[in-house]
Amino acid sequence: MMTSCIAQQLEKPTAGLLGWLAKKFFERYNRVLEEGAVKLCDIQPDNVVLELGFGPGLGLQEAARRLTHPAGKLYGLDISEYMYNTASERLKAEIQAGKVTLFLGSVEHIPLGDSTLDRVYHCNCYYFWPDLRAGSREIHRVMKPGALMVTTLHLEGLQRAVAAGPLKDTKWQPELYMETLREIGFVNVYMEEQQMNGKPVHAIFATANKA
Ligand SMILES: C[S@@+](CC[C@H](N)C(=O)[O-])C[C@H]1O[C@@H](n2cnc3c(N)ncnc32)[C@H](O)[C@@H]1O
Repeated sequence: MMTSCIAQQLEKPTAGLLGWLAKKFFERYNRVLEEGAVKLCDIQPDNVVLELGFGPGLGLQEAARRLTHPAGKLYGLDISEYMYNTASERLKAEIQAGKVTLFLGSVEHIPLGDSTLDRVYHCNCYYFWPDLRAGSREIHRVMKPGALMVTTLHLEGLQRAVAAGPLKDTKWQPELYMETLREIGFVNVYMEEQQMNGKPVHAIFATANKA
């Protein structure tokens, strides 16, 4: 019962005590993953960028800071209304300025045109997608040819969460995700361990190939 409540809040936090605790957990423990993904994306000032499953919005803040050219634009998509509202409040100024646009929805339906994005990133997210293949195909559709996607995760923490129960029914295995990306048309798909703030972080890189 408790395990399934935790799993639900990790997948789609809702307003209320449990969702608030999940938000605090993300803010406390996932900042390094969010900031790491943004750094590894090597975002250029005029890039068009998307974060999937942005949670409380720490990574959005970091990415928005880097988009200093007028053409630079940041999109975010999350399925949780609570996270959407939290991040909208955190990014209020950037949204009002037109630099950032947030969407409420799921990864299989990204409300952007074909070949729009230079960079995509997400952290702690793909395990929850209802259909890994459909989500990956949709991401590929909205990426420009040669665009880069970066996914960060705490592999050890993930394996502990799987063993303890909350994530045991998810498709969490990085190898499965990477294989799906390759099948869909991503190239240069690989995983690397990086040290960030003295902690091991795993990052998956993938480049959209549309040749
Ligand atoms: C474990 S939280 C991680 C949040 C944040 N990225 C972090 O690392 O702190 C997973 C996030 O993905 C979102 N999410 C889950 N399924 C999703 C889907 N199908 N499409 C878009 N977002 C989704 C959740 O609402 C939640 O904000």
